[in-house]
Amino acid sequence: MTIDLDASDFALDEMPGDVLHDVLRAHREQGPVTPAKFMGLPAFAITRHAALLEAFRDNERFPPHRMYEASLEGAIGKSFISMADLDQHRIYRKLATPAFRSRAVASYEAESLEALAHEVADRFEGHDEVDLLAEFIASFPYLVITRLLGLPHDREEAFHRWALALLSMREDPAAAVKASEELTEFLAPVVEERRREPRNDVISELVQAEAEGRRLTNEEVFSHIRLLFPTGGETTHGSLGNLVSAVLTRPGMWQELRGNPSRVPDAVDEILRFETPIAVLPRMSAEYDVEFMGVDIPANTWVMFAIAGANRDPAVFADPDRFDLDRESKDLLTFGRGVKSCPGMHLARRNMTVGLTTLLERVANPELLDLEAAVPRRTVLRVPDALRIRRRTA
Ligand code: HEM
Repeated sequence: MTIDLDASDFALDEMPGDVLHDVLRAHREQGPVTPAKFMGLPAFAITRHAALLEAFRDNERFPPHRMYEASLEGAIGKSFISMADLDQHRIYRKLATPAFRSRAVASYEAESLEALAHEVADRFEGHDEVDLLAEFIASFPYLVITRLLGLPHDREEAFHRWALALLSMREDPAAAVKASEELTEFLAPVVEERRREPRNDVISELVQAEAEGRRLTNEEVFSHIRLLFPTGGETTHGSLGNLVSAVLTRPGMWQELRGNPSRVPDAVDEILRFETPIAVLPRMSAEYDVEFMGVDIPANTWVMFAIAGANRDPAVFADPDRFDLDRESKDLLTFGRGVKSCPGMHLARRNMTVGLTTLLERVANPELLDLEAAVPRRTVLRVPDALRIRRRTA
């Protein structure tokens, strides 16, 4: 198939299903760094595995904070993801991320992740037709965050609404600002309380954390909580959506995994390679002209870190367009590399494993009703629009 790369735009085109992968293959075959478009602007795409690995580690030519400064800081405030100074980034990352890996997560995981997933699934119990995306996948990761933070259960719906409003800063800035104020008003007394009387939750860990002589102020605690919405909520929503889509659209796979749930982690690993939610990660190049792999990149140019392209590079993955549960995927670039490599990857994998296992248990024999809506689409956050199913009785 011939693809007109000049006509495709990584922000404006939805690139559903194979379309994205055809576009990325065409780029990859042309070279490691190729001209592209993003939001109508001239850009470049890095689609080969080796080139992207190098680019992820190159903080000079591709400063990792710039995109976040432009896109996120307005909504969530100052957090380590958008810090330009790498020493400062390192210190704040040390302060804010152990909370997502350590005691609180471990104890919560051991006790309640499964219970929470079943609680969410209870909401559609008895319904013959369900949109698994809207009714389970869209809320489960946010509920995990609220439980980890140790917030009161009766405010979970409000918390999810605030998170979504904050993330729509670009489309509706007034609603985002209002949500931010309401959220801060809600969090302030909780943070004060945890300072006085720490519990076994993430907010308590954030207020007690100390690194290189520094601690987080209340405002910094708020912004690092807000940081979890796009990074922990949206990504897991996408990755679980893509996973359930892959299983539902492959004949027999639902039943195969239902009969053998110990294979769910293999499905999780393979979907993270095959159809990752951050399929394309936009980076802004340095404030001066640079050269990368023989290609001149003008100052302040969008460069697409095409993770989905690297994850299907035939130089690294045999038969890359096949979704293969037996694959041993070791070199995924799904969680980035270098200074910004994802601190939430463990939690993401756990959420996905528990989420799919629960759905397999609760839905015996699903029939997918709308194949088109179930196809993953868009690039920066790739997810299906809906996963509507009917429960078959036989
Ligand atoms: C499948 C789900 C996930 C995917 C695909 C994913 C992917 C990524 C990628 C590619 C990066 C690097 C970004 C860059 O280089 O600019 C990243 C960073 C990050 N991720 Fe994840 N992530 C996922 C889940 C999570 C979760 C659950 C959390 C939180 C608990 C999280 C928190 C973060 C944070 C805070 C950063 C920024 C790190 C830094 O600035 O040093 N992610 N993630």
